[in-house]
Amino acid sequence: MYYSIAIDGPAGAGKSTIAKEIAKKIHFIYVDTGAMYRAIALYFLREGIDGHDTERISEECPKIRVTLGYDGEGRQQVFLNGENVTPFIRTEEVGKMASLTAAIPAVRAALLDLQRDMARTSNILMDGRDIGTNVLPDASLKIYLTASSAVRAKRRFDELKAKGTDCDFAQIERDIIERDKQDMEREIAPLKKAEDAVLVDSSELSIDEVVDKVIAEYNKIILPE
Ligand code: DC
Repeated sequence: MYYSIAIDGPAGAGKSTIAKEIAKKIHFIYVDTGAMYRAIALYFLREGIDGHDTERISEECPKIRVTLGYDGEGRQQVFLNGENVTPFIRTEEVGKMASLTAAIPAVRAALLDLQRDMARTSNILMDGRDIGTNVLPDASLKIYLTASSAVRAKRRFDELKAKGTDCDFAQIERDIIERDKQDMEREIAPLKKAEDAVLVDSSELSIDEVVDKVIAEYNKIILPE
């Protein structure tokens, strides 16, 4: 039997930073499902397909194969029809397209089995939007990680500034609110807290504090009193 930890939450709540850190500490495989949606979105962008064209997107899905691998340091790499596209998926353009096309049933169906299979063969920590509610409803531990939109925008703003990218705080916050709306209001597998998920608000917490909180929850499961 394998353990699985589901971490869901809105864009910019710190899921991937926290998840990577925890996975390293407890020796779980980390699966970033957002990267899978981003890889599919990259395919549509490259093909010049309109993100609203549900029919065309559904027709294309059978031609797309997304797979995951890990480099020598255990970092996840995502492959699109055999090509390692990890360096190309972290742009705003790809993020927006991923949020848009993730609302299309054929796109979600294309990724669901792969995500579930991974949890059958290893101890995994998976992050995304619908992991606790839909992908792994029987996960050993579910966390809903959130933070205020202002805090999430500030983190993104600092990240972009550190890279030397010119950016506008108000615009970043508007984009974050727009993305939340799109991910929470879609009909299929919307972002929401699973009833049995532990709510963690990281607005006022450091990365270490969030990591410790999640590990404490995990310890309650593997070391019951
Ligand atoms: O976490 P991220 O920003 O890399 O995710 C990009 C988009 O992919 C996100 O806005 C919605 C979608 N997504 C999803 O619908 N379900 C998931 N499990 C993960 C991501």
